[in-house]
Amino acid sequence: MSDLRTTYMGLELKNPIIVASGPLTANIENLVKCEKAGAGAVVLKSIFEEQINADALEETTKHSEFLDFADYQEVANNIAKDYYINQYVELIKEAKKALSIPVIASINCTHAEIWEDFIQKFEAAGADALELNYYPIASDKDVEGKDVEKEAIAFAKSVRKATKLPIALKIGYKYSSLANIITDFAKEKVDSLVLFNRFYRPDIDINSEKLVGMRGLSNADEYAESLRWIALMSGELKKMDFAASTGIHSGKTVIKLLLAGAKATEVCSEIITHGFDAIPAMLKEIGDWMDEKGYKTIADFQGKLAQENMDNGAHWERTQYMKSLQK
Ligand SMILES: Cc1cc2nc3c(=O)[nH]c(=O)nc-3n(C[C@H](O)[C@H](O)[C@H](O)COP(=O)(O)O)c2cc1C
Repeated sequence: MSDLRTTYMGLELKNPIIVASGPLTANIENLVKCEKAGAGAVVLKSIFEEQINADALEETTKHSEFLDFADYQEVANNIAKDYYINQYVELIKEAKKALSIPVIASINCTHAEIWEDFIQKFEAAGADALELNYYPIASDKDVEGKDVEKEAIAFAKSVRKATKLPIALKIGYKYSSLANIITDFAKEKVDSLVLFNRFYRPDIDINSEKLVGMRGLSNADEYAESLRWIALMSGELKKMDFAASTGIHSGKTVIKLLLAGAKATEVCSEIITHGFDAIPAMLKEIGDWMDEKGYKTIADFQGKLAQENMDNGAHWERTQYMKSLQK
């Protein structure tokens, strides 16, 4: 029988399938289903920096008669913050009570200084690690690329200072020099990088001529960028654990990402679409493949096809076709 155990940023996982942050990890009922289905760990639904501030703002406008009181906005802000923070602390505590697999708290944020105290509350509530869903949209024409990247590194540095918990940064791939920024994150002793987040994309409804949210589920071919970048970086940064996210819809894709050097894989859309049974189905596929290949443990093949471990690893850097696909 194949042994699917892996380690991920110091956590022992019984297998490399983590249920990604999202609707499946937003309440205890679903979290218990994740564990029962066999997940190796869960990343709780993120608490959003934006949400806290927007709700506070809404509260303030609702009571606009108070707007003359200079400190009202600050009071409303603090009430909203405390409310959401306490709710999140309770979710962590309940999850830790109900589950035996690792529970990773998740924050969607861009300003580390706002979160420093709260991170300590999440740590005290028993979170096993912290995932930071970080991706500021660089929409200010006056801010240069290098400054966006400097800010990202400063962010990692501040969060590292704020907690002893293992930290994963979940990032997007639209940086001008991804290899460089990934290496800089490693220098700040971030324990893991989750490559890559799949962001919410606004759309337009042409009937109502209004902005609408797009149904944000991925397709099964969207893992390609995660595969490429994990293969390029995992052999080079041996102390950094890489987790894959986006487009993981089968055990076969998990195997590919492990071959590229991932320590774990985060799955969301596949489970939303096919239910929690998708987890045992993927685990079976991985186990069957390992048996067929004669691999006893994940470590037997993890990183085998990372660029550093291959003679023809330059292929991972290829971006253009030289041959036609069809004859
Ligand atoms: C409805 C929905 C809500 C999500 N909420 C979060 C979130 O709160 N925090 C986060 O880091 N990612 C969130 N995600 C992103 C997922 O965790 C995951 O990274 C993304 O969906 C790509 O993985 P997939 O291809 O397996 O779906 C959300 C995704 C969906 C579809």
